[in-house]
Amino acid sequence: MTGPVSDTVDALVVGIDGVIGRALAARLAAGGTAVTGTSRRVGAPRAGVIPLDLAEPPDRWVLPARIGTAWLLAGVTAQAACRTDPTSTGRINVTHTVALAQRLAAAGAFVVFASTNLVLDGSRPRQPADSPLRPLGAYGAQKAAAEEGLRTLADAAAVVRLSKVLAPDFVLIRRWVEDLRAGRPVTPFSDLMLAPTSLDFAVEALVRVGRARRGGVYQVSAADELSYADLAHGVARRMAVDPGLVRPTTSVASGIVLDALPRHATMDASRLEQDLSLPPPPPEAALDACLTPDERQPGGGKDG
Ligand SMILES: NC(=O)c1ccc[n+]([C@@H]2O[C@H](COP(=O)([O-])OP(=O)(O)OC[C@H]3O[C@@H](n4cnc5c(N)ncnc54)[C@H](OP(=O)(O)O)[C@@H]3O)[C@@H](O)[C@H]2O)c1
Repeated sequence: MTGPVSDTVDALVVGIDGVIGRALAARLAAGGTAVTGTSRRVGAPRAGVIPLDLAEPPDRWVLPARIGTAWLLAGVTAQAACRTDPTSTGRINVTHTVALAQRLAAAGAFVVFASTNLVLDGSRPRQPADSPLRPLGAYGAQKAAAEEGLRTLADAAAVVRLSKVLAPDFVLIRRWVEDLRAGRPVTPFSDLMLAPTSLDFAVEALVRVGRARRGGVYQVSAADELSYADLAHGVARRMAVDPGLVRPTTSVASGIVLDALPRHATMDASRLEQDLSLPPPPPEAALDACLTPDERQPGGGKDG
């Protein structure tokens, strides 16, 4: 159980226990905004958190009567789960997500929906926001379907397509750091591309889109892309460890069938730059933000 739902909420973070939701709520609160969050983790009452499970029928949801801005960040984010259980994940990520967005908009909210570069086919770099939706995997297909559903809200909703967001606790990088520090080799994929932004950058973009209250699609992407092998080399350089410990392989050679293996990961982020003064950062900035000062060695850290 949680406390009673306030009638009026200025900022609602749907999915406050997720990586991005937690960081967004902290950023809004630090800027003086009163934040309410939703969580499916029901237990002891938590101030400012109301229960909401997207797997439940919408008539069970209890929402504030008036909402200023709602960031819709909750959903099943594990690509394998979307592939293996498309029915229940589709209910959460598409049908109920769109139903929730409609309820939020009916309560007066401007809705900011987090989508992904995986709604696009990655056939060329810096894919424009108005490219046809051609998702490569089940997760991307669900996000694309949700985007389509949100179009009925017109200017009451903005879609923010995020490329990979590198949070400081990103498991893969943490594991590489541990292995490289211990002198163990790492085997990153050279055929999987990403155009990463830092968690702080992605959160700033979400905040500015929420403040601007203009509908349509925004794309949040690094200016250039890297492979996971490039990323691991970047980690090794910053730690000033033997670069020979990075032994790239491919997903194909490893026998791993990925849900989506787009050729390119960058998206055209010019709307974010022009309308909201956030130019796309270099991908290395996201990596820098992931390493602690004592992981970055003096003399390490020069790219290319
Ligand atoms: N991180 C990225 O690189 C990235 C890139 C592109 C797009 N995005 C999108 O950005 C959004 C936030 O991503 P994230 O990285 O913060 O994901 P995350 O850490 O996996 O957070 C997702 C949140 O959704 C909640 N959730 C899952 N199923 C739910 C349900 N049935 N009802 C209510 N809540 C449910 C989870 O709850 P629990 O905490 O209880 O598990 C979790 O808090 C997602 O929509 C994701 O698709 C993220």
